[in-house]
Amino acid sequence: MPKQKLIIDTDPGIDDAMAIHYAFAHEDLDLIGLTTIFGNVFVEQATRNAIVLTDQAGRIIPVCEGAKTPLSMPANAPSHYVHGDEGFGDFPAITPSRSADPRSAHVFLADTIRAFPGEVILCPIGPLTNIAQLLEHDPAIAGLVKKVVIMGGAVDCPGNVTPYAEANIWNDPHAADIVFAADWDMELIGLDVTSHISCDASDFKTLASQSPDIGGFLDRISQFYITFYHGVIGRHVCLMHDPSAVISITNRAVFDYESIPLEVVCSGEQIGATIRTGKARRPVKVAKQVNAATVRKIFLDICSQCDKIKS
Ligand code: RIB
Ligand code: CA
Repeated sequence: MPKQKLIIDTDPGIDDAMAIHYAFAHEDLDLIGLTTIFGNVFVEQATRNAIVLTDQAGRIIPVCEGAKTPLSMPANAPSHYVHGDEGFGDFPAITPSRSADPRSAHVFLADTIRAFPGEVILCPIGPLTNIAQLLEHDPAIAGLVKKVVIMGGAVDCPGNVTPYAEANIWNDPHAADIVFAADWDMELIGLDVTSHISCDASDFKTLASQSPDIGGFLDRISQFYITFYHGVIGRHVCLMHDPSAVISITNRAVFDYESIPLEVVCSGEQIGATIRTGKARRPVKVAKQVNAATVRKIFLDICSQCDKIKS
């Protein structure tokens, strides 16, 4: 089977780093670009960190910087308390080997999707501002994307930044609503499944022994994230939000989906909530069930090879 072309839109970010290294390591994926967004960190930090991740993997793919702020509201503060001041736990800022591609995220996305019509899977794992700007920049693009696989949302479960909203949607609800209204093949890997998918400190220690460079980096940055989650859910685990979205691309059968037309609450106490809509919208395939143990095993098996695949 030919490799699947993939672009990840990302706010790295600890679990973003795990998702991106998983994508680099998987033989069925051709990660052809990264676009960056504010969210876990400032967009400038996200761009720097994304380039660093390509350096670690030895893969010189385009990294294009996206939006600094949401479409139409002030930006929430970065979640440095979850991902660290520089986005990789207690790591100080790491100097990247190169500069970003000069194109803005939505221009790079439109150019690349049009260069490979029907072939590119778009995987946003941060706020959806760049994706909304892509639709505004090139409305016909929706018919040229193979599919959109989003990490975000909480449909039939509580949110993680408020009782109603998941972080990526909460950080730009207006953009998310534009994205959910678009006529494209869309899958949502949200808290309904990712809140059940975790790895623990011993898993990352094993990864570090199997893949000392990249696995060692993921082990180091996971420790900050595991400490945060212990404070929130009382368990020393790392919830695998972003890696689960990429794993749903390589191993779709591990997830069960329900087709639901969605909208996003854009004001009031429930801002950022992803809710069933009566509006005439194309249903989104929402992941509702998952074999969490299998997702964990897939992640660890693939990432054990990270150092071996470095170019
Ligand atoms: O709610 C989890 C999501 O928010 C993940 O993408 C994480 O990286 C943060 O961006
Ligand atoms: Ca993210």
